[in-house]
Amino acid sequence: MSAVDDWAYVGTLDDIWQGEMCAVRVGAGPDSVDVLLCNVDGTVLAYEDKCPHLANPLSRGALADGVLTCAAHEWEFDTRTGDGLNPASATLRRYPVRMDGDRILVDVRCAP
Ligand code: FES
Repeated sequence: MSAVDDWAYVGTLDDIWQGEMCAVRVGAGPDSVDVLLCNVDGTVLAYEDKCPHLANPLSRGALADGVLTCAAHEWEFDTRTGDGLNPASATLRRYPVRMDGDRILVDVRCAP
């Protein structure tokens, strides 16, 4: 991913308040990655903005009490872990997040 720095700046804590989620794009062109940021209890987590079911953008869903519900077919995910709640076999692709003060940095080169 030549167009993407190791740690990409994606915004600040002012951009995503506790209990909120938002979509950001890291990089440009064919190497870009759509990322979903979730602020759960003050912790920012980053996931691929693509549902593991049929790839609907998860950012179009709803986030309540840490549970993300996909807008397309209502699969549910625990945003604290990325694990599926319904169905439990699904898993979100998670990206590492690093904070620099209130700046949010995401590494999209790999996912655990
Ligand atoms: S695309 Fe998300 S539940 Fe079907």
